[in-house]
Amino acid sequence: MTVEIRPEQPADRHAVRRVIEAAFGDQGREEHGRDVADLWGSIGRHQRASLVLEENGRVVGHVGLSRAWVDARRALVDVWLLSPLAIVPERQRAGFGTALLAAAVQTARGSGAPGLFLEGSPLYYGARGFVRADRHGFVPAALERTPRAAFQCALFDSHEDWMTGQLVYPGIWWERDAAGLRDPHLAELEKRFASTPLEAGEAPPPPER
Ligand SMILES: CC(C)(COP(=O)(O)OP(=O)(O)OC[C@H]1O[C@@H](n2cnc3c(N)ncnc32)[C@H](O)[C@@H]1OP(=O)(O)O)[C@@H](O)C(=O)NCCC(=O)NCCS
Repeated sequence: MTVEIRPEQPADRHAVRRVIEAAFGDQGREEHGRDVADLWGSIGRHQRASLVLEENGRVVGHVGLSRAWVDARRALVDVWLLSPLAIVPERQRAGFGTALLAAAVQTARGSGAPGLFLEGSPLYYGARGFVRADRHGFVPAALERTPRAAFQCALFDSHEDWMTGQLVYPGIWWERDAAGLRDPHLAELEKRFASTPLEAGEAPPPPER
């Protein structure tokens, strides 16, 4: 078996769409899969970085990074937003998500940006080097609609203490209503978060984005 992680090429476009749709559209959620793929497909080429994971020559995983900002008092700071991370259902739980995530962190760090942000499962990402972003003074883009435990970041050497504030998503996220969560899913998740000792490292299922 050969496994390779590499930057997405133009020829991978359809394969990447297939992977995102399969991962996020699993178990009858086809429409959600298409929405996530549409959002990713509409982010401008210069506003994003993308890696694919190939197993035996077939693309089975993808991770996307897009440009975002932290609205700090002193300046607007360029950072990365990680979304989506997708592994085709039949190849999940083989370590591919973990490997792609590590490669995405390396890409973000290598760009010189001070940080990488995401909304996702604190259990999954917390075990892979991410920390709660609110603990560093960051405020989520969708202030009222992002469970704090799900709002996470990885900070790099170029990060300085003043580089904190609200995360700002690119306009396309708002055009497609993709920032944070909405009820009833938001309320369900908050209920589960409230009854779970997140501080101890245990976490409920992730926001399904
Ligand atoms: C989340 C995802 C990328 C993980 O990829 P993967 O290759 O299966 O993950 P890995 O093999 O590296 O890690 C597997 C571990 O992660 C855990 N895990 C997988 N998905 C998880 C999730 N959504 N929340 C919490 N833990 C999760 C598994 O339980 C497994 O734990 P174990 O090793 O103790 O059994 C993949 O399941 C996926 O594409 N899911 C659908 C899309 C999605 O939800 N993306 C993330 C958005 S925040």
